[in-house]
Amino acid sequence: MSDRYIDFANSSLGHRLVAALGLPSPVRLERWPAGRLRPVEGALLLGGGALTAKVQAFAQKLTDATYTYGAEASTWIPGHGPKLKAVVFDASDLQHTDQLKQLREFFQPLLKNLDNSAHLVILGRAPETLSDPFAASAQRALEGFSRSLAKELRNGGVLQLLYVGEGAEDQLEGALRFFLSPKSAYISGQVIRLEACATPVEDWTRPLAGRKALVTGAARGIGASIAETLARDGADVILLDVPQAKADLEALAARLGARTVVLDICAEDAATQLVEHLPDGLDILVHNAGITRDKTLANMTPEYWDAVLAVNLNAPQVLTQALLDSGTLHDNARVVLLASISGIAGNRGQTNYAASKAGLIGLAQAWAPLLKARGISINAVAPGFIETQMTAHIPFALREAGRRMSSLGQGGLPQDVAEAVAWLGQPGSGAVSGQALRVCGQSLLGA
Ligand SMILES: NC(=O)c1ccc[n+]([C@@H]2O[C@H](COP(=O)([O-])OP(=O)(O)OC[C@H]3O[C@@H](n4cnc5c(N)ncnc54)[C@H](O)[C@@H]3O)[C@@H](O)[C@H]2O)c1
Repeated sequence: MSDRYIDFANSSLGHRLVAALGLPSPVRLERWPAGRLRPVEGALLLGGGALTAKVQAFAQKLTDATYTYGAEASTWIPGHGPKLKAVVFDASDLQHTDQLKQLREFFQPLLKNLDNSAHLVILGRAPETLSDPFAASAQRALEGFSRSLAKELRNGGVLQLLYVGEGAEDQLEGALRFFLSPKSAYISGQVIRLEACATPVEDWTRPLAGRKALVTGAARGIGASIAETLARDGADVILLDVPQAKADLEALAARLGARTVVLDICAEDAATQLVEHLPDGLDILVHNAGITRDKTLANMTPEYWDAVLAVNLNAPQVLTQALLDSGTLHDNARVVLLASISGIAGNRGQTNYAASKAGLIGLAQAWAPLLKARGISINAVAPGFIETQMTAHIPFALREAGRRMSSLGQGGLPQDVAEAVAWLGQPGSGAVSGQALRVCGQSLLGA
């Protein structure tokens, strides 16, 4: 569904009117077009501590214009250098309160020199891994700083904090290829922890080549976009949906050269059937199928409650367990569960839905350490307001509120969620496990 307000706010008349009335003026976000190769098209500014050298080592693969602050010819001078498309600041060395001023000193001069849809990343060390309480406190301070600065960015700018574990420095390239590029256009104010991971990406133009991927609920909406994106990145995709969606499913499969599985994931024999359909095993499992049956708890029928919990939570649990037990899910597999920010913040009229989505986040957290020995990662992706048939059914006023109440002032697109799932599906993304990645434009809900 299109967002007519963004069209209006970006027209010449609308732009003037919106500014005059002091209304929100969301910009059109830059997204990753098919066939693009460079993660950053424009200037990348690097600064800060020792991890900067690690980033410098592969920076020429991100962009051909890398800068550091300074007065020499090759360095970047505020007001004189080009507008910045991407910024990385390594704050992992900050150990005392008085060192935190480096954040202000680094970021303040560049804020008025950011290009549209700029991507900023701060690197740190996870506070819980540090024995010095003052250092842990300084590193935790990065969280408040980065979430706040993300809210101050304009013109589609986004910012994340990456806590880099000891030994996880090699995972920076994969993470920065995602977080500095338009693939993460609708993610902002997030904190992600990277750990060591033994499986590298071989070919960045087709990072999922040779990987078999199953997407549930793939006939439309976010699921269809996930299937397209995984196929774009080289995966051999298998699309699953209910019998009622067979025509749409087969049309998409024909376009992608994919296989289909027509199955209700809540059927009594769904696990057995699924294992039979996957004799060659699976490397990427995406539990995307989901439903809403909204009512306040006072009016919630048992049927509404049961249906949502069965599709959204019980089926992913039962099916993943069966795929693990049968050996269908390969070592080093990537599992992604589609949660929701409702599962983090709660939402009026969604006790059933929010319980199911919070349950998925809990499932990822609980399973991650158990699956680590096999190299399997499991994460939740929590979308905010995404423009799909699901959100098109929301009453107008609530829909408008859902769209505007975020730092980016607009809803996301299915592609935004799909890019996050595709990134978590990469071999190198074993560096991330047991986490919930919000794709919500830094929604104010539960922020
Ligand atoms: N759209 C949003 O704003 C939003 C926000 C947060 C989370 N999500 C989550 O993202 C996922 C996809 O959302 P969407 O907006 O694309 O939804 P959608 O309703 O457009 O698509 C869901 C798909 O799941 C399939 N499905 C439902 N029940 C099934 C079953 N029992 N067996 C097999 N397939 C089944 C449907 O047929 C449909 O094709 C869902 O899990 C949803 O909860 C969406």
